[in-house]
Formats: sequence, structure tokens, C-alpha cells
Amino acid sequence: MHFLTISDFDKKTIDGLLKIALDVKQRLKRGIAHHALRGKVLGLIFEKSSTRTRVSFEVAMIQLGGSAIFISHRDSQIGRGEPVKDTARVMSRYVDAMVIRTFGHDIIEEFAAHSTIPVINGLTDLHHPCQVLSDILTIVEKKGGYEGVNVCWIGDGNNMANSWIEAAGILGFKLKLACPAGHLPDEKILKAAGANVTIVKTPEDAAKGADVLNTDVWASMGQEAEAEKRKEAFKDYQINSRILGLARKDAIVLHCLPAHRGEEITDDVIEGPNSCVLDEAENRLHMQKAILEYLMR
Ligand code: CP
Ligand code: NVA
Repeated sequence: MHFLTISDFDKKTIDGLLKIALDVKQRLKRGIAHHALRGKVLGLIFEKSSTRTRVSFEVAMIQLGGSAIFISHRDSQIGRGEPVKDTARVMSRYVDAMVIRTFGHDIIEEFAAHSTIPVINGLTDLHHPCQVLSDILTIVEKKGGYEGVNVCWIGDGNNMANSWIEAAGILGFKLKLACPAGHLPDEKILKAAGANVTIVKTPEDAAKGADVLNTDVWASMGQEAEAEKRKEAFKDYQINSRILGLARKDAIVLHCLPAHRGEEITDDVIEGPNSCVLDEAENRLHMQKAILEYLMR
């Protein structure tokens, strides 16, 4: 089984993953070793930069008693154009699972189609499912569950937004998104999610009464050439103290990081008392363990 999108898992599976993640987090805090993947090897191929995803997966494997091998596209044959299907079939003979970070979602789909081991999406242009599972873990910890929680998304209808939409569709929490014209989430993903997910006109409409405020960079990796043009289109799509003031008093602020302070979020909000971005980043480690255990054991 692969994990390429949130919709690869049903509600029961996601609830199970949240339980495993909470459990492995507790064990780690109490100093109890949990070597569920002793002797297993995870390979990681990243065609884009990463701090959190790479390090949390590598540390997760080590703490689970296994090991991880990071393969940069620059100094492997992948960067020289070796076919995806050949890389996938060869890696399947060496390691027990793969994490891939790449551009087009079709690339990871092709990789998975030719792999005989689990393939995990460490981010594509279309989805970022591991991140959103850790974000939901953060909501569960901070809000006691995800049921009845109102989540808002302000900004780009990007990979993060798409994975949030799938999560809302499957888990049943409400999600309101405010995105500038021309930067809406994927139409097919939106349609499949159903009535829990709504596109609203303004960031104010999205933030009103929200329990969770959520955003991401205005220009994602691979969109650097559009960054200046995007600054103009996104200038009103910022989480700042005024927008935070429209949300519930106890609202939490999430951001997958890295953040661009002064663009999609202000420094006072990301450093303020409602911000949970560091707990969110920490939860990547615990959620990666749950995903790895589920797919590799
Ligand atoms: N949030 C996230 O995926 O961060 P990295 O790009 O550092 O992995
Ligand atoms: N949307 C961002 C997320 C980075 C973790 C990007 O794709 O660059």
C-alpha cells in the first residue's frame, strides 16, 4: 500500500494513525524505546529542498530501530534523467519503503506504480498529505478532537490546501477557504470533498468564528519565477492580528513552515500566544512514525 494522498486512507485508518502517533509520542517523552521497525531501511528521494520532512522521517526511522538513506537528485542518476520506473524498480530491491518529494504528482504516481514497496508522498505540487496528518494531530491535542472544529485556510489553493480539503471531506470537519482569484484549489479535489468544504469570498469570511487559522507561503517551491506577481495577488491574504481577532478567542494558528513573515503571516501572530507552529512541526516526527509503522510493519 502507498500513501500518496489523504484519500488513500479512510476515516478509520486516519483515526488509527492518530492513536499510534499519540502513543509513540508518549513513549518517546517517557523514554521508552519502541523498535517497531528494527532492521528496516527507508529510502528518501527529494527533488526539492526540505528541513522538517526529511529530518522527521530520518529520525523517526532511527528511533523505530531502523535506518534511513537520503538520496539527493543532484548526485544520483535521477538528476541525469534515469527513468522513474527504473529507479522505482531498483530501489524496491534495496529498501523497505520510499519517501518521495517531487514536482508533478504524476511522477510519484508513476514511481508508486512500479514499486513493490510502500511509497510515501513527502510533497508534490498537488498534495502534502503527511503534513496535514500532523496538523490534524496538533488539532486533536489542542482541541480534544477534530469533530466540530472549524478550520479556515487563507491564501494559496496549493498542495497544502488540497490535502486539507481531502481531510475535511473524509473526517467531516468544516473547512472554509479564502483564496485569490486564479489561485483556487484543485477543482476535482474540491468537488469530491462535498458540503463540509466551502470557498468563501474574503479572508474575513474565512476567519470569522474559526477554531483553526491556517496558511502557507504565497509562492511554493517551483513557483519562484512568479513570486513578484503573486505578491500583488495575495497582498490581502495575510493572517495578522486583525484577522486573528475575527476568529474564536482560543483559536490556534497553524503554518506548515517555512514561513515568510510579513507576507502570508505577520511576525506578531506567528510568535504570539495562539501560534502552535512549533508543536505542529514537532508532530511531524510522531506522525511519520505512525505512517511508517502502518505501512511497513
Ligand atoms: N513543512 C514542510 O514540509 O517542511 P520542509 O519543506 O522543511 O520539509
Ligand atoms: N506549499 C509549500 C509547502 C512547503 C512545505 C511548497 O510546496 O513549497
